[in-house]
Amino acid sequence: MIGTARFAEIERDAADALVSATSLAALAEAQTAVLGRRSALASAHRDLAGLDPEERRAAGKILHEIRTHLEALAAERGAALAARERAEMLDRDRLDLTEVTDDEVCSVIRRGRLHLVDQTRRELEDVFVAMGFTVAEGPEAETDWYNFEALNIPPAHPARSMWDTFYLDLGQPETVVLRTHTSPVQVHLMEEQAPPIHAVIPGRCYRRETADARHLPVFHQVEGLVVDHGITFADLAGTIETFTTAYFGADIHSRLRPGYFPFTEPSAEVEVTCTICRGKGCRTCSGTGWVELAGCGMVDPAVFAAVGIDPEEWTGFAFGFGIDRCAQMRHVIADSRVLGENDVRFLRQF
Ligand code: DAH
Repeated sequence: MIGTARFAEIERDAADALVSATSLAALAEAQTAVLGRRSALASAHRDLAGLDPEERRAAGKILHEIRTHLEALAAERGAALAARERAEMLDRDRLDLTEVTDDEVCSVIRRGRLHLVDQTRRELEDVFVAMGFTVAEGPEAETDWYNFEALNIPPAHPARSMWDTFYLDLGQPETVVLRTHTSPVQVHLMEEQAPPIHAVIPGRCYRRETADARHLPVFHQVEGLVVDHGITFADLAGTIETFTTAYFGADIHSRLRPGYFPFTEPSAEVEVTCTICRGKGCRTCSGTGWVELAGCGMVDPAVFAAVGIDPEEWTGFAFGFGIDRCAQMRHVIADSRVLGENDVRFLRQF
């Protein structure tokens, strides 16, 4: 049956279907249903065939207007739904940085940081600077004279076997080595400045040995040298104890044991409770419960003689701490090799 009332009904139903579609997919379905070949609108078009020409033209015009209106409605609804779906997608995929922790932000923007050994060197320097020491530096390649002879270790001295040495092939006249300890910088300092001297010297050292839980072929020491009037072994022991509690805290104990170094007399070894096993004995401390952190002693008069300081007027003490070893004990790191491997999963913890 054809008539304006019927047309109005078709238009109302179709418009309802289009505006109530809640997604682009639902809208596409509604468009097919109300504008497609099987729609009420299409069948009304087909019914025009039974009308006489005058009526057919008038009804055809109305149907054409209805279709144009419905198509505009569908386009408008489509634009609104597309905008809404896009906004929803952006919202879903948004990275909300206000909800991530500092650590996650670090990993997102990959901010760098100082290596644990550098952090430790700086902390050790701070402790010694607070005690009145200045900070000095020296070369990593040394002549045999600085690394050994001036330190009272002449060629063929049996104590040389304490340091497995890398030799640099630079030809004559002097033998040049990668320094096996920071002690040669003591000699440079005493040559360059008159006492009193209160200095610490951090730096990299090299030994020809295989890395294990406690040893690295490239490692770091902080050397200490004090030369002044009336310096005694008690000053040395007090300095070591003050340092130990300042750096490790009051619950880590240290002890001094008699030792031997050619450049100090008397000499001692500084040990602290092994933090890995808390003193019970483990692989890191070779079962002893103690870990050696430093060598120390009173500057040997033969060393003063090598640099022209009068041992009748001046006395002094010296020490050499392993920086890597300090980091290892402070942060309870069972195997020192991780300090040389640059694995960011380890390093980013510090
Ligand atoms: N240079 C020694 C070493 O590497 C450590 C050391 C011992 C340094 C005694 C000193 C010292 O200054 O007095 O094994």
